[in-house]
Amino acid sequence: MSNNIEGKVVVITGASSGLGEATARLLSAQGASVVLGARRVDRLQSLADELTGSGGKAIAITTDVTHCEQVKRLVAAAVQAYGRIDVMINNAGLMPQAPLERLKIDEWNRMIDVNIKGVLYGIAAALPHMQQQKSGHIINVSSVAGHKVGPGFAVYAATKHAVRALSEGLRQEVKPYNIRTTVISPGADATERPNSVSEPDIAEKVRKAYEIAIPAESFARAVAFAMSQPEEVDVNEILFRPTRQEL
Ligand SMILES: NC(=O)c1ccc[n+]([C@@H]2O[C@H](COP(=O)([O-])OP(=O)(O)OC[C@H]3O[C@@H](n4cnc5c(N)ncnc54)[C@H](OP(=O)(O)O)[C@@H]3O)[C@@H](O)[C@H]2O)c1
Repeated sequence: MSNNIEGKVVVITGASSGLGEATARLLSAQGASVVLGARRVDRLQSLADELTGSGGKAIAITTDVTHCEQVKRLVAAAVQAYGRIDVMINNAGLMPQAPLERLKIDEWNRMIDVNIKGVLYGIAAALPHMQQQKSGHIINVSSVAGHKVGPGFAVYAATKHAVRALSEGLRQEVKPYNIRTTVISPGADATERPNSVSEPDIAEKVRKAYEIAIPAESFARAVAFAMSQPEEVDVNEILFRPTRQEL
């Protein structure tokens, strides 16, 4: 029986580490062709080599999601190599937490550029192909912080609320094209994400909070669950946390 993953062409942004990397591994093991985008091309390439070495299909394309043209090039590479794009996973993101009063304006701008504009550019790159195909699946990555706000992560939470709003609007707009949409909101998953915190005292708090983090594969399984439903079933939202996470 088909798992509805085998043979699909899946583009993943932020595939050089963490949740994106774990998802590439799981989907490749289940027979998807994966097209990997991120800035650290050495890491992307060694992942692609590993997956192809195990009999999978994978390509690595250097991509900075803050540049719309580069995200278009990533999707175009998928279509050129495999003839179509079935799933776009807008996963690249960062979380340099700090209270607003520390005025980390450069970090606010980076979060807006990567977490919001990067997702929009992913939609812009994938949508025309999916409209033409009359099929596709766009998966955006929000967070528990897309549902809850707390001191110290107001800007990150704002970007992740924006991802949920965009995903809901997209869901309603793409019905005529037979496109599925899913927004996934993880809690603490063990990845490199805490490294993006630049303030030493906040970094220490985040490291402590991440002691209960669950493996990145928990996210990959959520992606596989949404993808593997029959085509007429559209799983729109998934929110999950470590069992021990309070927030
Ligand atoms: N881990 C968690 O607990 C958690 C919880 C909720 C939500 N999330 C979300 O999950 C997503 C993945 O994060 P992660 O936890 O896997 O963190 P991670 O290990 O730090 O991975 C982040 C990925 O994003 C990529 N990235 C960052 N800036 C980029 C840019 N300008 N262009 C292209 N790629 C860029 C990084 O690749 P390069 O540096 O090579 O470009 C990396 O592959 C993020 O959207 C994050 O907000 C994570």
